[in-house]
Amino acid sequence: MSDQPSRKPLISGNWKMHLNHFDALRLVQELSYKVTEDDVAAVDISLHPPFTDLRTVQTVIDADRLPFLLGAQHCHHEEKGAFTGEVAPAMLAKLNVSYVIAGHSERREVFGETDETVNLKVRAILTAGMVPILCVGETLAERDAQQAEAKVAGQIRAGLDGVNAQQVAGMVIAYEPIWAIGTGRTASAEDAQAMCAFVRSTVRDTLGNDAAEGVRVQYGGSVKPANAKELMTQPDIDGALVGGASLEADPFARIAQYRL
Ligand code: PGA
Repeated sequence: MSDQPSRKPLISGNWKMHLNHFDALRLVQELSYKVTEDDVAAVDISLHPPFTDLRTVQTVIDADRLPFLLGAQHCHHEEKGAFTGEVAPAMLAKLNVSYVIAGHSERREVFGETDETVNLKVRAILTAGMVPILCVGETLAERDAQQAEAKVAGQIRAGLDGVNAQQVAGMVIAYEPIWAIGTGRTASAEDAQAMCAFVRSTVRDTLGNDAAEGVRVQYGGSVKPANAKELMTQPDIDGALVGGASLEADPFARIAQYRL
């Protein structure tokens, strides 16, 4: 547990494979009417649209000076090459992308990403000057078998291999129990806090106190306006990675305004 108040919460909207670039423009504009300067003084807000929307979202953020940080959902770890369908970290950085999700459970489960490839991505994202959001989390079977901590600790150690303490201090780790993603079933605030504290203690054991106190730990899995405050006011939860509830302006803005 940590009483360090200096970690600014990060609320991230992971749109997954939803919203074309016209829909994206409308959502970003609607969000900009709801999110106030006070909100962005209190929390950072990152938006992670599909690749085809990035340029549109970047343009409206820059042109209208909107208080959102641009994010991506995925990237390849190589700088360039014959990787049909893939996108390189430097291409994202060129679009002013600040945050890139690495190792989301859907990428691991559906697209075969491993701890090793996720680690390569984390390192490539850092090399390109962006912040990785490293996703970790257990399945229901693993939780029921008392394996949640072992799974998460293994994912953190492997995902951060070769990354130094200073880099980790600036990173984000998202704890997302797989059984809570898109299911409407949320971890209780106590369980989420316990696992996010465990994430931080694993970072402390591996990379020391400065990394542990600096790293922001998000909770993800069916975060919505009704549960955001309880989750976000836990001492080791420094933000939320939001899927379904980020696809409309009203619930996502209310999550970002959890403190009100
Ligand atoms: P959800 O998705 O909020 O729809 O559960 C969270 C995530 O996958 O990051």
